[in-house]
Amino acid sequence: MARKMWMRGTVAALSATALLALGACSSEQAPAAEGEETTSDDGGETEEAGDELISIGFSQVGAESGWRAANTKSIQDTLTADNGFDLSFSDAQQKQENQIQAIRSYIAQGVDVISFSPVVETGWGPVLEEAKAADIPVILTDRAVDTEDDTLYESFIGSDFVLEGEMAGEWAVEQYDGEGYQMVELQGTTGSAPAIDRKEGFADAIAGSDIEVIDSQTGNFTRTEGKQVMEGFLQKYDEIDLVFAHNDDMGLGAIEAIEAAGMTPGEDIKIITIDAVKDGMQALADGKINYIVECNPLLGPDLAEVAQKVVAGEEVEKRIVVEDKTFDQEAAVEALPSREY
Ligand code: AHR
Repeated sequence: MARKMWMRGTVAALSATALLALGACSSEQAPAAEGEETTSDDGGETEEAGDELISIGFSQVGAESGWRAANTKSIQDTLTADNGFDLSFSDAQQKQENQIQAIRSYIAQGVDVISFSPVVETGWGPVLEEAKAADIPVILTDRAVDTEDDTLYESFIGSDFVLEGEMAGEWAVEQYDGEGYQMVELQGTTGSAPAIDRKEGFADAIAGSDIEVIDSQTGNFTRTEGKQVMEGFLQKYDEIDLVFAHNDDMGLGAIEAIEAAGMTPGEDIKIITIDAVKDGMQALADGKINYIVECNPLLGPDLAEVAQKVVAGEEVEKRIVVEDKTFDQEAAVEALPSREY
């Protein structure tokens, strides 16, 4: 564990659950004497005791999408012992209660830093207060929490989801206003920041156009649920001209449903998505998706930099906005050969 600029308080109110979880997944090592070598838990790298690793507990949303897989890889590839980190990683399987349990476990372990990508926006006050009482800094990545007290976290690193929705909606208006299009929306996980913000941004951008949103349901950011919801829409409505999916995976599920119904995605029904992961970009290059707004998942390097600064007691920015691009078919064809994720 790194020597902290943070003064750690007594963790007075650890729940029984947290203590049990501690037994199950602690990766804490006994401190080494000065000059002695310690072994990290990532496969035998050694560190001089004067050059200690920053212990960081990261609670991931789940493995729901291609975007999430790329985000997890970025974090695991960056927060390595070689880069000065001892990473404890947990997958919450898209359940807030699992994330709260993981965070409590990291508090009990006394990690140097906690980071997480919140499944949903609300309900984080108590566990963030517990981290604060234990003097453990928290860094949010990817998704925001809905709190008025921004002292509960050090920094939030991630895209501007409202802007992503706006960029998608502006392109829809540019291309399709005046056609009287009927649109369906595949929303992300209910209560999550990207689902709330992308919906809002898109709605604002199409306001005043003649694109009509005839239905909007959650597909939970997964390909399977995106397909199921799209099948329901196709049974319910005689005319659907446009799909706005809050991520590529749900858009790819919609493609399967549209093809199964005997129609051509990208032509009979236009599709706009968000993420720009390889599978989505391939579908865009193939003409099955019409437009994609990027959401950059490579947050590992920013997280590493902010964590190092926080542990060193340096100032960090409260909000670090990751920039996103947009892609039409031509841009996807050009970008695909060198696409990292
Ligand atoms: O929070 C980012 C979103 O979560 C991505 O757009 C989506 O693919 C993921 O599941």
